Amino acid sequence: MFTLTGKTAVVTGGGSGIGKAISQVFARQGAEVHILELQEENAREAIAAIEAAGGKAVAHSCDVSQQEQVRAVFARLGQVHILVNNAGVAHIGNVETTTGQDLDRIYQVNVKGAFHCLQAAVEKMKGQGGAILNLASIAAHVGLLDRFAYSMSKGAIHAMTLSVAKDYLAHKIRCNSISPARVHTPFVDGFLAKSYPGQEEEMFEKLSKTQPIGRMGKPEEVAALALFLCSDEAGFITGCDYPIDGGFITLNN
Ligand SMILES: NC(=O)c1ccc[n+]([C@@H]2O[C@H](COP(=O)([O-])OP(=O)(O)OC[C@H]3O[C@@H](n4cnc5c(N)ncnc54)[C@H](O)[C@@H]3O)[C@@H](O)[C@H]2O)c1
Repeated sequence: MFTLTGKTAVVTGGGSGIGKAISQVFARQGAEVHILELQEENAREAIAAIEAAGGKAVAHSCDVSQQEQVRAVFARLGQVHILVNNAGVAHIGNVETTTGQDLDRIYQVNVKGAFHCLQAAVEKMKGQGGAILNLASIAAHVGLLDRFAYSMSKGAIHAMTLSVAKDYLAHKIRCNSISPARVHTPFVDGFLAKSYPGQEEEMFEKLSKTQPIGRMGKPEEVAALALFLCSDEAGFITGCDYPIDGGFITLNN
């Protein structure tokens, strides 16, 4: 079950955290993985780890917010069967403390970046079908403190997921999203180091407990759900969002 042998998968932001774990699992299941990544060094390390485990992967230096760069990468690829829109950036602030520039930066990467890859991928998938998975967040579904711009972008991811799922039914392109609560990645460590210097451990504990299950998620756990949703076994699933949140959305009361 869950084999990806013979499939080509594109994973954005595959050099770190959740995207790296997804790339590793997809390669282990037989996919040829193409990582589109801003941080070339991280992408190279991710590729080396995949190759050392016997998998196939290629790194592409690419800023997904730049449409011509995304187009250039997809032009070099043959068929694409799977797209995971994972690259994303965060911002802390409410509607008053978020500047127009902050909002634009989040929009450019999280929304436009996903749009560029969706557009390039559906063009490739139209003749043959495919599976698309977008990284949303619990921020798309519930109000989180000080996540104005980030929530805006993840709400857009959810809405784009439904739109693409509907428009490409006849083309056999499935499109779903997943909504993690806090997952322990460099994204989280960077946030703690920047926002709570000297109190990282205490804050890590506090953030862990915001998930009713009592801990943060692991990138590998998100990767396992991503594998299922992008595999042929999930052929009856499209236009869905899956929380992977330790009970955050439904049990925090
Ligand atoms: N970690 C969490 O708690 C969490 C929770 C919910 C949703 N998410 C979402 O999951 C996704 C991955 O998060 P993560 O925690 O693994 O983050 P991460 O920071 O560890 O990895 C993100 C990767 O995306 C790359 N990237 C950023 N901007 C890019 C761009 N313009 N072009 C190409 N690559 C770019 C970064 O270089 C990095 O390698 C994001 O979309 C994030 O919003 C994360």
